[in-house]
Amino acid sequence: MKVLVTGGAGYIGSITAEVLLAEGHEVIVFDNLSQGHRAAVPDDAVWVQGDLSEPSAIRRAMMAHRPEAVMHFAAKSLVGDSIVRPFAYLRDNVVEGLNLIEACVDSGVQRFILSSTANLFGAPGNAVIDEKAPIAPGSPYGESKWTLERALDWVSQTHDMRYAILRYFNAAGASAQRGEHHVPETHLIPLVLQVAAGQRDCMTVFGDDYDTPDGTCIRDYIHVLDLAAAHLLALGAIETDNCTYHLGNGGGFSVRQVIETARTVTGRRIPEAIGQRRPGDPPRLVANSDKIRRELGWQPQFGELEQIVSSAWQWHQAFPKGYEG
Ligand code: UFG
Repeated sequence: MKVLVTGGAGYIGSITAEVLLAEGHEVIVFDNLSQGHRAAVPDDAVWVQGDLSEPSAIRRAMMAHRPEAVMHFAAKSLVGDSIVRPFAYLRDNVVEGLNLIEACVDSGVQRFILSSTANLFGAPGNAVIDEKAPIAPGSPYGESKWTLERALDWVSQTHDMRYAILRYFNAAGASAQRGEHHVPETHLIPLVLQVAAGQRDCMTVFGDDYDTPDGTCIRDYIHVLDLAAAHLLALGAIETDNCTYHLGNGGGFSVRQVIETARTVTGRRIPEAIGQRRPGDPPRLVANSDKIRRELGWQPQFGELEQIVSSAWQWHQAFPKGYEG
C-alpha cells in the first residue's frame, strides 16, 4: 500500500516508515523538520518537506503522490510542555490534524491512523487502563489528541473514511538504524543513557513522593518496533472497520526501576538526584492491551524492560550524537 507518514522524520514515525518499507509498502514522508531529523528518513521513502499548518502544502503532496492511507505521527507531544504552552498544543495539534483529515477527505484517502496517547485518563489510580476507561485528558496535549479522536469519529460517520486510533503508552527503544533523539531531550530513557555515556552529569528524578511503592512515577514502556508492528496490523484492520487500541506491555516500571535497569544494561554509573515533581505527570499509567492482542493478534516481541533499554543503549553507542553525528 502507498502510505503517507506525517512526522516520518521523528522518532516513532521514522521507525514505522522503516518497518513499512521492509514489509513492501511505499512510503511518502511528510515532515516540516521542526522536531524531526532529515537523516532519520529512510532512503527508500519519498521525501516531502512540508508543514501541516498549510493546507495547500498537504493537498499538493496528496495530489502528487496519491497515498491510499495516512499515518499521522506529526505533533507536539510533551505533556509537561503542554501545561506551560497550552496554545501550542490546543491550537497547533488540532488545527494541523484537522487540515490533514480534511485533505484526506478531499483527495479520497479512506484510511487514517492516528497516533494518540495514554494521557487521556487523568490519574487513573492502580487500574490497568483499557479502551473503556473514562476519558479525562490529563493535559492540553491529551486534550488535543482527544479532540482529533472525536473529529475522526465524526468524519468517518459523514464521509467514506475509516480510522485506527492507537493510544501509545511510553514508546522507547530503537531499531538498529533509528532511535530516540529529541532536541532538547526530555524523555526518561534517552536522558538516563546520556548520563550513562558521560554526556550528562546526573539524572534528576521528578519527585519521589508519589503514592507508588518507591515514590516515583510508574509508566508502561513499549518498544518502538512493537508499536510499528501494531500500525501495520491496524492498516489491515481498517479495511473493514474503525478501531481504537491501547498499546503497552501491561507492566509498569517506576523511574527508579528504569534507572536501575539502565545501570545493569550499561554497566555504568548513573548518579541521580531528587527534583521537584513535573507538572502534569500522573503517578501511574499502565495499559491493558488485551483488545489488540485478541482482535489483531498483536504480540509484542520486546516486552522486557531490559530488552527495550538495551536496544536504546546499542543505538546510543552506535550513534552517540544521534542524528547530529
Ligand atoms: N522523568 C524524570 N526525570 C527526567 C525525565 C523524566 O523523573 O529527567 C520521569 C517523568 O516524570 C515521568 C517518567 O520519567 O514520570 C517518564 O517521563 P517521559 O518524559 O519519558 O514520558 P511521559 O510519561 O511524560 O510522556 C510520554 C510521551 C507522551 C505520552 C506519554 C504517555 O512523551 O507523549 O508518554 O504515557 F503521552
